[in-house]
Amino acid sequence: MRMVDLINKKKHAEALSAAEIDYIIQGYTKGDIPDYQMSAFLMAVYFKGMNKEEIANLTLSIVNSGETVDLSMIEGIKVDKHSSGGVGDKMSLVIIPLCACVGIPVAKMSGRGLGHTGGTIDKLESIEGFKTEISKEDFINNVNRYKMAIVGQSPNLTPADKKIYALRDVTGTVDSIPLIASSIMSKKIASGCDCIVLDVKVGSGAFMKSVDEAVILAKTMVEIGESLGRKTVAVVTDMSQPLGHEVGNANEVKEAIEILKGYGAEDETTVALTIASRMAVLGGAFSDYESAYTQMRKLIESGEAVEKLKELIRIQGGNPEVVDNPNLLPQARKHIEIKSLTAGYVNSIDAEDIGVSAMLLGAGRKTRDDSIDFSAGITMIKKVGDWVDEGDTLCILHTNISDCRDAEELSQNAFVIKDNKPEPIKYVHCIID
Ligand code: URA
Repeated sequence: MRMVDLINKKKHAEALSAAEIDYIIQGYTKGDIPDYQMSAFLMAVYFKGMNKEEIANLTLSIVNSGETVDLSMIEGIKVDKHSSGGVGDKMSLVIIPLCACVGIPVAKMSGRGLGHTGGTIDKLESIEGFKTEISKEDFINNVNRYKMAIVGQSPNLTPADKKIYALRDVTGTVDSIPLIASSIMSKKIASGCDCIVLDVKVGSGAFMKSVDEAVILAKTMVEIGESLGRKTVAVVTDMSQPLGHEVGNANEVKEAIEILKGYGAEDETTVALTIASRMAVLGGAFSDYESAYTQMRKLIESGEAVEKLKELIRIQGGNPEVVDNPNLLPQARKHIEIKSLTAGYVNSIDAEDIGVSAMLLGAGRKTRDDSIDFSAGITMIKKVGDWVDEGDTLCILHTNISDCRDAEELSQNAFVIKDNKPEPIKYVHCIID
């Protein structure tokens, strides 16, 4: 086989066989295929797309480029969740304890934040002592005993995805549905779960800017999951403004605690319960979504859910007292209020701009090797639909950086204020199963 022939084939919109796709993926991972040929291939996929069979084969080849996790020592149906990435998305911190409370084993592998989006592993590391690197044995034992454990993703999982993603980032080929779908699903399949609930974000803070595009991505990923023997459900949720009121690391942990105590914002409580109830049904704890949703809400009201988070923190070496006293979490020295320059209704808040602003304040990484400041972040005081008077506080920036004028300007401009009251935002746009 010659790479140039396969590039030409895709350039002419011809379908590639499983063997041809595997030749490209394994060849590129091993370094036999150079970046320039892989870039040309990715661009051909960007323009000509792939059919369902090709996307499933691409996913499988990426899975086979590295190790896979064997979760067979864990009793029960292992259900995983994955978010396509957003701003203020602390859903895993809420969903893990909720699912564990109803007996669903959650063996969670999560990532770190990059660019304007955050990562669950960084958020948890803002809790003093919390270990996100635990042995395979402890991981399996904790899931069997407590129904939950979380670790950072192994570097040996899907090496092809890491290499291809880095190339996509610099060749303008990130926003391609076959490439996003295979990238996300390969990581889920390699991490060994039986069922998957995907949280596909849509809006200004997400890869998919329109509901139609998000639905195509969601359907593509559900088809991949099903064709590779994993029951898969996708929930398309809103990311047209940051989720909830906190964006950052320590402040998102604080907000997750509030949600689990029953004081969460409506958008994030609804999204968390929708995803958790789908996971609970796939895991066999309930036969229908409505009962799962109602029971899980009761776990929040009774205090059981937040106690389970405390248990997760304790078993992974963190200080569980943060649950009763969130002020023990890292605190920034500087707090800057961004004030409204006019009166009116908040019509939109650009989630990506808020995410980038939080990153500039120290909460995120520009490159993979950057360190982060757990105490940095943004508190959203006003959300879409709220009325503001001139001089009202829109959001508060938390930072230890002395000059953060860029972040101040970006946050200010993220808010669009007009005379008309906007239509209410749907938190959950649709569910594909
Ligand atoms: N998240 C991923 O893991 N891969 C993509 O391509 C996009 C989002």
